[in-house]
Amino acid sequence: MAVLYVILSWTVMFLLFLAFIAFLSFCLYMKHIHNKYDHIPGPPRDSFLFGHSPSFLRALKNDEVIFDTFLEWAENYGPVCRLNLLHYVVILVTCPEGTKEILMSPKYPKDYSYKRLSQLFGLRFLGNGLVTTQDHELWYKQRRIMDPLFSSLYLRGLMDTFNERAEKLMTKLVEVADNQTEASMLRLVNFVTLDVIAKVAFGMDLDMLKNKSVFPDAIQKCLKGMVFNIRDIFFQYKPKNRPFVKEVREACRLLRTTGAQWIHDRKTAMQNGEDVSKDILTQIIKSAGKEESMTSEDEELMLDNFVTFFIAGQETTTNQVAFCIMELTRHPDILEKLKKEVDDVIGMKRDISYDDLGKLVYLSQVLKETLRIYPTAPATTRDVPNDIVIDGIHIPKGVACFFSSYVTGRMDKFFKDPLKFDPDRFHPDAPKPYYCYYPFSLGPRSCLGQTFAQMEAKLVMAKLLQRFDFTLSPGQTFDIVDNGTLRPKSGVVCSVRHRNDKK
Ligand code: HEM
Ligand SMILES: *[C@@H]1O[C@H](CO)[C@@H](O)[C@H](O)[C@H]1NC(C)=O
Ligand SMILES: *[C@@H]1O[C@H](CO)[C@@H](O)[C@H](O)[C@H]1NC(C)=O
Ligand SMILES: *[C@@H]1O[C@H](CO)[C@@H](O)[C@H](O)[C@H]1NC(C)=O
Repeated sequence: MAVLYVILSWTVMFLLFLAFIAFLSFCLYMKHIHNKYDHIPGPPRDSFLFGHSPSFLRALKNDEVIFDTFLEWAENYGPVCRLNLLHYVVILVTCPEGTKEILMSPKYPKDYSYKRLSQLFGLRFLGNGLVTTQDHELWYKQRRIMDPLFSSLYLRGLMDTFNERAEKLMTKLVEVADNQTEASMLRLVNFVTLDVIAKVAFGMDLDMLKNKSVFPDAIQKCLKGMVFNIRDIFFQYKPKNRPFVKEVREACRLLRTTGAQWIHDRKTAMQNGEDVSKDILTQIIKSAGKEESMTSEDEELMLDNFVTFFIAGQETTTNQVAFCIMELTRHPDILEKLKKEVDDVIGMKRDISYDDLGKLVYLSQVLKETLRIYPTAPATTRDVPNDIVIDGIHIPKGVACFFSSYVTGRMDKFFKDPLKFDPDRFHPDAPKPYYCYYPFSLGPRSCLGQTFAQMEAKLVMAKLLQRFDFTLSPGQTFDIVDNGTLRPKSGVVCSVRHRNDKK
């Protein structure tokens, strides 16, 4: 017994000693990292070990938009601003030249943080799908297969679906107006965009405005989980978070099993020789390879891309339209000008054509200005594997660079009086912003769905402006919530009236 006790205590001592050595080595390593990068300007660290992480956690806890903190830092410490997160160093880059050099080049892959999007609390989420894959070859292979579905020729063919689904929203709004009730524009627009992506990407009829659906909630859950997962590495281990983590896992499972079901149905249809449309689902199946040689990784990759398009294909567009409506409620002059343009271009017509959309120039400006102040996908990061000089500052290799259109879009340096909503900044004759406005990101990894999204946003806005007046309900704020994508916090609840009703 005594012998056992001695052995045990020696073992414990030895382990403690090892832990101490490990801790000491980590501290030395930290010191080394600090020495290597501290010549780069940046805000004071909250702590030696954790760096600026405590600031991140504070913002997260207080439900603040972390990008406002980044904006403040960029204003105070300049275009190249260092942040320490444990032993990671992240450089917030806001100068146009640095932005151009890194984002436009295929040399700089998406960084480690995308790994934290591929998994969600131990479950595979976006995996190696088109948004999250870091591997250039795997990305290129997928992107090439998807590209044809986003050509203008193909997109023209979607106008019927866009029109038809948006009409369902109009029917709903007629009801809201007739009943003289209020409605959350964020929620209603989300129904249309989900309807559209389900139909054109996967050939499914959700008819969201009629059926109650579990999807909007599940998507919010996953995205919110993603925010916690990426900013607080210990989140899932804290007992108080257990119920939320469980809900997120369930939501994630729901999206993936839905994908598996829809893919299965589609494959069965194909095997039965049915005439299936050449849509995103077809391409997802195609990119996974031949049925005979399909590995379980191929199967998972299909689900990755299913979830990727299901989320990326509607979430940010919804938020953009909702923010746009929100801003218009406090800019009657801009609203009047827009209505006039819509009346001139489409009049009373129900079916809006692709060419009509091209003529809605002022509406384009308004939507661009919306994304300047509210870039719904606010940031992107790149790994920088080599030494680099940005704005005259030497940056040794081993950092990630962080780019945010939210930050640059709100800097006085690039946009005079930045919080003023002014669509004339994007007047066709105005100078184009130079690498300081990139709500769809830039370069090879920029948004595949940009044109798709702007067609949809314009079409929904045009129909709305054509037929309705809307007023923000009392108690609604103009605040932003960071739910993975940026959303209007209170959902843009409006009362809606028919346009010709005079009151
Ligand atoms: C207003 C609407 C939208 C905005 C603001 C937006 C913004 C973005 C941004 C910033 C990225 C880069 C993400 C990153 O660097 O991590 C991105 C990528 C992507 N987006 Fe969008 N997006 C929108 C709509 C859409 C739509 C409608 C689709 C599909 C139908 C889509 C599909 C994608 C895909 C597939 C990627 C990954 C591209 C790649 O890495 O090759 N997006 N989007
Ligand atoms: C409008 O009123 C009708 C009848 O009271 C009701 O069935 C319907 O759900 C209401 N619609 C909305 C959008 O409030
Ligand atoms: C929605 O309703 C339609 C018919 O009204 C039905 O065919 C479809 O399966 C429903 N979808 C869901 C997800 O419940
Ligand atoms: C943000 O996400 C949370 C958690 O899923 C959800 O309860 C909330 O409604 C979302 N906010 C908006 C504006 O969608």
